[in-house]
Amino acid sequence: MYSDKVMDHFNNPRNVGEIEDPSGVGTVGNAKCGDIMRMYLDIDDNGIIREAKFKTFGCGAAVATSSMATELVKGKTVQEALQVTNKAVMEALDGLPPAKVHCSLLAEEAIHAALWDYAEKNHIEIEGLEKPVSDIEEREETEHSL
Ligand code: FES
Repeated sequence: MYSDKVMDHFNNPRNVGEIEDPSGVGTVGNAKCGDIMRMYLDIDDNGIIREAKFKTFGCGAAVATSSMATELVKGKTVQEALQVTNKAVMEALDGLPPAKVHCSLLAEEAIHAALWDYAEKNHIEIEGLEKPVSDIEEREETEHSL
């Protein structure tokens, strides 16, 4: 049911933890399943993401997608990190079962929430970044549905 990559990132999640004094931090949840994800980003003066860490209180797919999402955004610019969509995360994991697609949305929204926090703290606007929702259920049936 799950790809080897999903199982690997679930069993050995990368970048678990917190960043002290992060450049941006965002928390999102899904009211339907009750899962919560928090993403921390450390962004340097050139807008490059030096470090990304996460804490996920959620299902295995949520853990695997947060792990992969943090791996994908590391070393990227803020703009490039916006391209790390839930589809990109799923592709990098060799797919997720349809019932678990919503879990990958948590990862995308958590990145966006952390970037939003970073933008607010620095009084900048990140082109293409929409104000994140705290409950991703609101977004599930809209642009992200597959
Ligand atoms: Fe809720 Fe996976 S079941 S994030």
